[in-house]
Amino acid sequence: MQWDSALYDTQHDFVAEYGKGLLECIAPDASQSILDLGCGTGTLTDQLAARAGSVVGIDASPEMIGRAKQRFPHLAFMVGDALSLPFERQFDIVFSNAVFHWIPDHDRLLKRIRRALKAQGRLICEFGARGNVATIEEAFSRACGEHGYAYTGRFTFPTAETFASLLVDNRFTCEQAVAYDRPTPLRGGEQGLRNWMRQFFAADLGTMPERRQEALLERVEELTRPRLWNGSVWMADYRRLRVVARS
Ligand code: BEZ
Repeated sequence: MQWDSALYDTQHDFVAEYGKGLLECIAPDASQSILDLGCGTGTLTDQLAARAGSVVGIDASPEMIGRAKQRFPHLAFMVGDALSLPFERQFDIVFSNAVFHWIPDHDRLLKRIRRALKAQGRLICEFGARGNVATIEEAFSRACGEHGYAYTGRFTFPTAETFASLLVDNRFTCEQAVAYDRPTPLRGGEQGLRNWMRQFFAADLGTMPERRQEALLERVEELTRPRLWNGSVWMADYRRLRVVARS
């Protein structure tokens, strides 16, 4: 997927904002090394750096890494795929915020992460849990159908139980796997949901002519308004899965 890093930073910076809560799972320790997996434009990598001796930010998007390097030239960033991490027993912590739901093969992902971690290293991550943005996805899928397009769904939102069991299969000790609702206000007032869909459903919308895109976005707004519009803000029905596991 193509990411607009500037739009991401101005409209969707809440992604990193909420990630700050996850940082609190990490006590500062100058001897530890951290991999920020799916670091985006580097906002949380920078904050991780204050808690560690060394940090590397990795992201599959050259656009995002380009912007991260501009913003934080003193930090280490690299372009790389989560399913082909080139590290072996290198990190005390693999940290990841709002990334795993973009990766369909969680089994392979956990194998790669385990290989990147030192013995007794920790995976600390948060991403979409089963039911995440279900109201939006269902409405989007329905609107696509009405316009003659098939929405196949590109996200993987597991239950806490499924993911915990996958951790065990991959020889992690699961210390925490908790799913919780986190309704999330979208920036931009009336335009908030539309902006969000333009960013995150870009691959689907990109296959349609602009006028059809507009009609479809309007239809999704109509379908979701009773549940997600609170009179001044669109509240996306985010549901998170927070995980702490030891290798
Ligand atoms: C999420 O962070 O939960 C998310 C973001 C974009 C699309 C789907 C889910």
